[in-house]
Amino acid sequence: MDAIQLLKDDHKKVEKIFSDLENKRDDRRALFPELDRELTIHAEIEEKIFYPAAKGAEPTRDLVLESIEEHRQIKMVLADLEQTDMRTAQWAADLKVLKEDVMHHVGEEENDLFPKVKKVLSEEQLEDLGTRMEEMKVELVEAVRGR
Ligand SMILES: [Fe+2]
Ligand SMILES: [Fe+2]
Repeated sequence: MDAIQLLKDDHKKVEKIFSDLENKRDDRRALFPELDRELTIHAEIEEKIFYPAAKGAEPTRDLVLESIEEHRQIKMVLADLEQTDMRTAQWAADLKVLKEDVMHHVGEEENDLFPKVKKVLSEEQLEDLGTRMEEMKVELVEAVRGR
């Protein structure tokens, strides 16, 4: 599987969970852990596999560093949400901030980073990265389930 396609599929999935969270307020208790898990696993496969491969190429290095910083901020808001009572207005406000941060970050990846990565990595390299990320996702999902 092509690495960029895999990451874009994840982005779509996350976007869908955000809109479900907004539209089905009664399902927060089930939807939020799903969002939490998807974002955490996605960040992990990018940080461990995709970003290091992209960082090696000069045209994408700064974008990767910025992306890592954005992940750090997203994880901080996510941690706040985990600690806050879901029934509060504070939680809803934090969720909104998280969504804005994630959408901004996804926009930069899809419009800026991915097109540049496509220029510096071959199709074969992208396939290989995609395969490795798929494998890592399976491992991470299993680790979460076994918890
Ligand atoms: Fe990212
Ligand atoms: Fe991403």
